[in-house]
Amino acid sequence: MASSKKYYISTPLYYVNSRPHIGHAYTTLAADVLKRHLKSIGKDVYLQTGTDEHGINIERISSENNKTPKEWADDVVKDFKEMWKVLHIDYDYFIRTTDDYHQKQVQLIFERLIRSGDIYKGSYDGLYCSSCETFYDESELVEGNCPIHKKPVEKVNEETYFFRLSKYQDLLLKYYSENPSFLSPSFRAPEILRFVEGGLKDISVSRTRVKWGIPVLSDPNHTIYVWFDALINYITGIGYDIEKEKNEKFESFWPCDLHLIGKEIFRFHAVIWPAILLALKLPLPKKVYAHGWWTVDGEKMSKSRGNIINPLDIVKEYGVDVFRYFIFKEVPFGQDGDFSMELLKAKYNSDLANGIGNLFSRTVNMVRKYLDNVMPEKPEDSEIFSRFLAMQKDIYKDIEELQFSLALDKVMKAVSIMNKEVDTKKPWELAKSDTVALKKFLNEMVWCLRLVSRWIYPFMPDTSAKMNMYLAIGKTQHPDVNAAKLTPLFPKK
Ligand code: ME8
Ligand code: MG
Repeated sequence: MASSKKYYISTPLYYVNSRPHIGHAYTTLAADVLKRHLKSIGKDVYLQTGTDEHGINIERISSENNKTPKEWADDVVKDFKEMWKVLHIDYDYFIRTTDDYHQKQVQLIFERLIRSGDIYKGSYDGLYCSSCETFYDESELVEGNCPIHKKPVEKVNEETYFFRLSKYQDLLLKYYSENPSFLSPSFRAPEILRFVEGGLKDISVSRTRVKWGIPVLSDPNHTIYVWFDALINYITGIGYDIEKEKNEKFESFWPCDLHLIGKEIFRFHAVIWPAILLALKLPLPKKVYAHGWWTVDGEKMSKSRGNIINPLDIVKEYGVDVFRYFIFKEVPFGQDGDFSMELLKAKYNSDLANGIGNLFSRTVNMVRKYLDNVMPEKPEDSEIFSRFLAMQKDIYKDIEELQFSLALDKVMKAVSIMNKEVDTKKPWELAKSDTVALKKFLNEMVWCLRLVSRWIYPFMPDTSAKMNMYLAIGKTQHPDVNAAKLTPLFPKK
């Protein structure tokens, strides 16, 4: 590549008030799928994730559990890291907002913005939802409650520092219009445009009543608002140093290519975050993509609603690849989806056991039986292989546009085309009547299946590796494997 610029993908920093669940796994896996795909086509990809550890909720939950907030956070961080390991997430850096380097930079950034006039002292009188860590306007409440958590908000009246968000309204609107893919998916853009056009108010960015937070350096009675603290991770994690004039590491990563988030935190990432960056005179990220919610019986899965599904339970029963496949195949990325074990089982049997799994077993068995275990040469003038190569372009494009379900629909279509080919060509009959035709057909099947294995790699890396081994990718034959007993990729359930 001409430049050393990396493709930088971030996930949100998850609050440590909740143990990791499907929702957190979803965003982080999406980042991993994209990373694996981009790496496989030669890009230099960097993936950052981590945890958001300050604020009143963590203060409360840790004291309920007789732990200091930091002890509590250390414990939950272990769970997150374990979860990412089990789910085969290939992240490059895990940042915690309690990291010393991060905290120091946040303090210095705050001071710089006080000096530039972007942050000023005032007093706040308003409504606060501690689960969202967000101030609300009376008009935004639903029956007097927080619109997200449906529970009462607190009246807050205190001295506070404000961030001059209002100053950036026009610059933000200009950026949105010049960078139409910044607000993604595009159907969510109007919500942000309406909000910003409606007039931005300055926001409170410090609290005097919250002790568990980063103190304001010049005024330690105040701690820095958790969101102001957490958003800055996207630059501190890659070594941004406000005291340095030039910072090569930071510049080789920034601006971020993609902030992946859930839809409920779109405003923070699409409005407040770029405004902070404008105040710091830093370039803005290329894209913020807000995906939908996993729900259970129509309700958002969340700690506060107590309807959490633990991915580890699914992995135990079905294996990690099945989970990775299901969450991206079933629901278009961007939309909400209702989670159900019945649906997962049905998809497992139809798409994986009877689909890819069956195709794989039949193909390998035929190669053993009719080709003497010798993997064939690439087929020439094969209509089906050319058709598959053409599909590959579309599948890659879908993945790059985060249309994971469309990519997997195409993979499944290819699988079913191949399964039908076997049914109609009846290779077991060709074996008796036309061995030349049989050989050509099996060549095509093997080479097409090798493509399928490549396509599923970002979603199901283990399955793809197993297929590659049996299909002897890069080899004409693999004696050990070919002699080994073939077990189904996905036993029927
Ligand atoms: O908001 N469906 O952290 P958080 C889909 N700390 N995705 C879900 C989900 C669900 N039911 N539940 C959670 C915070 N997520 C802040 C972020 S960033 C600087 C600070 C995913 O622990 C989704 O990505 O509440 C969502 O945006 C994120 O977890 C929220 O995690
Ligand atoms: Mg949340």
